[in-house]
Amino acid sequence: MARKIMIAGNWKMNGLLEDGVALAKGVAAEVKKMGKPECEFLVCPPFTLLTSVKKALRGAKVALGAQDCHFAEKGAHTGDISPVMLKDLGCQYVITGHSERRADHGESNELICKKSQAAYNAGLKVIICIGETLAERDAGKTIEVCTKQIMGSVPETATAANTVIAYEPVWAIGTGKTPTAQDVEEVHAAVRKVLAKKLGKGNANKMRILYGGSVKPANAKEFLALPDVDGALIGGASLKVEDFIAIAKNAGF
Ligand code: PGA
Repeated sequence: MARKIMIAGNWKMNGLLEDGVALAKGVAAEVKKMGKPECEFLVCPPFTLLTSVKKALRGAKVALGAQDCHFAEKGAHTGDISPVMLKDLGCQYVITGHSERRADHGESNELICKKSQAAYNAGLKVIICIGETLAERDAGKTIEVCTKQIMGSVPETATAANTVIAYEPVWAIGTGKTPTAQDVEEVHAAVRKVLAKKLGKGNANKMRILYGGSVKPANAKEFLALPDVDGALIGGASLKVEDFIAIAKNAGF
């Protein structure tokens, strides 16, 4: 089953106008040089940069995504951004359930499910994040935690066309620590089984499952070569053009 590899950058709360635009222009220029890359590139800047990054990406095969959204279309939700607004700005994707949202904003699986469904309704594709903490891993609960997160935060209407899953062990995010390739493959294969149970085998076999957590040019090849790893969600290394592009190149793109 051919699944198109996705190389996604999550800029998090980084970038002012000048450096954000420079980063987007740098990525766009490098991707243009690659001609027709076989992988799909995506950048997810903070809300404040979406419009200018979209302009900077013009003509390049790089998709635009946001890092979160509300579940309502509009209304009295001070400080929130709706998926309809993101679509209106030209976003194709939105990330939901990132562990930093789950931890810093107490987001539940139920809320993430609602946000994801609202994003589909607005015509966006969703990257739904899951992953265990170090304590959960040490307690041998990785698969159990990921299963619960998938069952609770992935809508029944999710398909391979509207959803990408990102497995990001919380303890590997921004720490330079990573699971072994074998551990990653084991979790991804288990996640695919759970997806098959929830959404049917057809969807599960076609759905992309990204690995995230300290992905760097040096480890990209190893992770991206794994049979059930269909790309990477990259934080720190997506803030440097050379590193972001080197991750794709080192993986053979
Ligand atoms: P990292 O972040 O690459 O800096 O570890 C990944 C993520 O949180 O998406």
